[in-house]
Amino acid sequence: MSHLFSVNEALDNCILRTEVPGVAAPYRGKVREVYQLNDKTLGIVVTDRISAFDYIMKQAIPFKGQILNQLAEFSFRKVDDIIPHHLIDVPHPNVTIGKKCEPIPIEVVMRGYLTGHAFRTYNSGERMLCGVKMPEGMNEHDPFPEPILTPATKATEGHDEDISEKDILKQGIVSEELWSKIREKAFKLFARGSEVAREQGLILVDTKYEFGLFEGELTLIDEVHTTDSSRYFYLDGYEERQAKGQPQKQLSKEFLREWLMEQGFQGKEGQVLPDLPNEFRLQVFNRYAELFQKLTGKKFIPKVEKNIDTKLAEIFHLYV
Ligand SMILES: Nc1ncnc2c1ncn2[C@@H]1O[C@H](COP(=O)(O)OP(=O)(O)O)[C@@H](O)[C@H]1O
Ligand SMILES: [Mg+2]
Repeated sequence: MSHLFSVNEALDNCILRTEVPGVAAPYRGKVREVYQLNDKTLGIVVTDRISAFDYIMKQAIPFKGQILNQLAEFSFRKVDDIIPHHLIDVPHPNVTIGKKCEPIPIEVVMRGYLTGHAFRTYNSGERMLCGVKMPEGMNEHDPFPEPILTPATKATEGHDEDISEKDILKQGIVSEELWSKIREKAFKLFARGSEVAREQGLILVDTKYEFGLFEGELTLIDEVHTTDSSRYFYLDGYEERQAKGQPQKQLSKEFLREWLMEQGFQGKEGQVLPDLPNEFRLQVFNRYAELFQKLTGKKFIPKVEKNIDTKLAEIFHLYV
């Protein structure tokens, strides 16, 4: 942590919510606040909120927004040649200026490994996931023979639901022509993301893409290959840990999910969302900072922002 900013200050100055004077109220997602600056442009503020099991935690993670936003920028630049993306500019570490797209209501999930939701499904004895057959004899965290596409519907409320490609077409959510393009891009993006990760000693385990249309053109939106939208393992020692049946070292929100489960919270009805202790919030920050450094090869340097709303007003007025 920078000597300019003490740990306590960091904990007390998280960005939980923004409100920009003179700009229409944003759409508030779980993590991002999306301001419409004009017909074609969004001002996307990545806050320090963190969510798990579709619940937003009451306490935020210091600098998580800056880390996430800059990871997304880094990763968007790595896929410039594969597909147009929404990123126009990053005028501040918490802010992305993006093309306002018409979102396609599907979470395009790619999986290289039997982990997380895929493993839980497999472990229950089920072998079909979103219309894809998973091979027999796999252990948790084993690679699939080839990456698989396991989409989910993007629910406006509550949990996203698994859906097969066949049903996406049958229900007419996306046209056949557009879907074939999305699927082609998803596989290319996942291959690139895996390559970039591997160069840095990481394994891209799984990830989620969101697409939209900008003036009719298929465009990658939201975030890409970040710790919020992806799981990563350390490459070093992966094989050995698999052979011994040891847990993999995860650099992602799995850390938070596991902690919550230890506290008896899995997002089910009637369960009480636990408070995140300060010490734990700092541990999570360290995980995020570690991944940033590992993936980008650059040290994360926090930018101290005492009054984010004023800063945002300054930035946004250039676009409104
Ligand atoms: N370029 C874009 N055009 C339109 N919508 C976008 C764009 N980029 C991101 N979004 C949407 O903005 C929201 C980002 O906020 P987020 O906190 O991720 O929300 P959520 O709780 O829905 O995951 C998402 O609903 C995402 O689909
Ligand atoms: Mg999101």
